[in-house]
Amino acid sequence: MEIENFKLLSTLLKQRSGLVLMKDKAYLLEARLMPIARKHGLADLDQICEVLRTRRETALIADITEAMVSNGTEFFGDKKPFDLFRSLVLPKLISARAESKKIRIWSAGCSSGQEPYSLAMILKEEQEQLREWQVDIVATDLSEGILPKAKAGIYSQFEVQRGLPIRMLIKYFRQNGDKWHMDASVRSMVDFKTHNLLETAKHLGKFDVVLCRNVLMSFDQPTNEQVLSHISDVLSQDGVLYLGSSETVQGVTDRLTSIPDVPGLFQQAGSVSVVTASR
Ligand SMILES: C[S@@+](CC[C@H](N)C(=O)[O-])C[C@H]1O[C@@H](n2cnc3c(N)ncnc32)[C@H](O)[C@@H]1O
Repeated sequence: MEIENFKLLSTLLKQRSGLVLMKDKAYLLEARLMPIARKHGLADLDQICEVLRTRRETALIADITEAMVSNGTEFFGDKKPFDLFRSLVLPKLISARAESKKIRIWSAGCSSGQEPYSLAMILKEEQEQLREWQVDIVATDLSEGILPKAKAGIYSQFEVQRGLPIRMLIKYFRQNGDKWHMDASVRSMVDFKTHNLLETAKHLGKFDVVLCRNVLMSFDQPTNEQVLSHISDVLSQDGVLYLGSSETVQGVTDRLTSIPDVPGLFQQAGSVSVVTASR
């Protein structure tokens, strides 16, 4: 691929999604964008670039972005964050919010829904304690193409085999042919929306827990600072932020800080999260 075309596509991806594409990943462009070229009646990547140079084709730009961002996810991904949610974060929130009886959770970069649905299943398991409570789960992603799949809650055998305990599978899914359908009572707990993390999230309201896992790893440092600043704007003063196991706020922003002794959890700097409060 010509260097000018690589530059055009990598700049577009960076501006639109934050994704940083290194030169050694140019082969990924060929592999993932050829089907997009065909879909738009174009012969190859050079023609895609020609179109991008001459007119702003919104549908083409959206398809290119979706094809390039990584959306790998699984139920109860990495297990530990969800164990911690059930054993530590949720009990602490239940005591901290005893008066308002309201909890708001944001799955930021939710992909095909496994992350917010894992939280919803945990909340279902704890429903006795949450009887009079209002618990909102807002799940957002940049990719408009993936949200209908997330909303439908229909997964392949392969997808449910990854990370989902068999007990949960039997309890919350119904098999239909080779697909597994998530129970409507769990699906209805999650409100899916399109949202670009490069933009302000203030319209989504304040959250007690934000999960932004395995998203920042595709961005560069200034982009991560921008995204974390938008998250800090909407994280309640005693709220908890989850990042992926290879992600951190350290050296990226001074608005957020690690929660001591709890890897992967972060809080507002200069503040005390519900997790830290009464330990
Ligand atoms: C690797 S997946 C992680 C999914 C889930 N958080 C998890 O850890 O299982 C990353 C997701 O972030 C989304 N994403 C990438 N850039 C984004 C942006 N600028 N705004 C919102 N979502 C974005 C992708 O579409 C993808 O679904």
